[in-house]
Amino acid sequence: MSRNIAILLAAGSGKRMGSNTPKQFLLLDSKTILEHTVGTFNSHPQIDEIAIVTPQEFLQQTELLTRAYKKVRKILIGGKERSDSSMVAIANYPNDDDNLLIHDAVRPLVTAQTITACIEQLRTFQAVEVAIPTIDTIVQADPSQPFVQAVLDRTQLWNVQTPQGFRRKIIHQAYRLAQADPDFRATDDAGVVLRYCPEVPIGIVEGERTNIKITHPMDLVLAEQILASRK
Ligand code: C5P
Repeated sequence: MSRNIAILLAAGSGKRMGSNTPKQFLLLDSKTILEHTVGTFNSHPQIDEIAIVTPQEFLQQTELLTRAYKKVRKILIGGKERSDSSMVAIANYPNDDDNLLIHDAVRPLVTAQTITACIEQLRTFQAVEVAIPTIDTIVQADPSQPFVQAVLDRTQLWNVQTPQGFRRKIIHQAYRLAQADPDFRATDDAGVVLRYCPEVPIGIVEGERTNIKITHPMDLVLAEQILASRK
């Protein structure tokens, strides 16, 4: 039987936050952002196991913060890029029958409903991602010469979030092919599947606007308000 493994990526440095502490270790309503995220996956009845990917220098802190959460079985050291951290985790789960749900640890407001929806969709699809329809008009421009090159059709655009769920066999195959590509770059995992295993359809799970990625200081203020509104 396939197990559902949550992989929580927490090995980023959080430069955009302007703090020396990576954002996953900042406090949100008396607990770290990481603990909020781990807590939601830990209490989800369909999650069998959790792996956390963390920076080498935060290994001990991660162990201390998460030891009360019984489903946390592995704490792994991440890599330079987000995709390197994903690869470390995938390599640690060699069973092709497992479902891997890869999630940004800095999205602490993910709900049990979204996790359930991903797991359900993985019965039909071999790869799924959480996304929400874009509300802003999005234009294309080169950041070094910012003038508008194109206005994209908003009705076809989605903002991608996490979790992104995969049959282990598929995400492993996609990263294996990516490693042979000298031009490989990725900001999410489903994008790696799309590029290197284009024959695999990626199902979209419509997510929630509250599943924000804590990136800038203002996001913490917003997250606190969202948490308060849930109490
Ligand atoms: O940098 P970005 O905002 O895309 O980070 C998303 C998530 O990936 C964060 O939770 C961050 O800690 C994690 N990450 C990682 N290893 C890296 C870079 C980012 O685990 N090298």
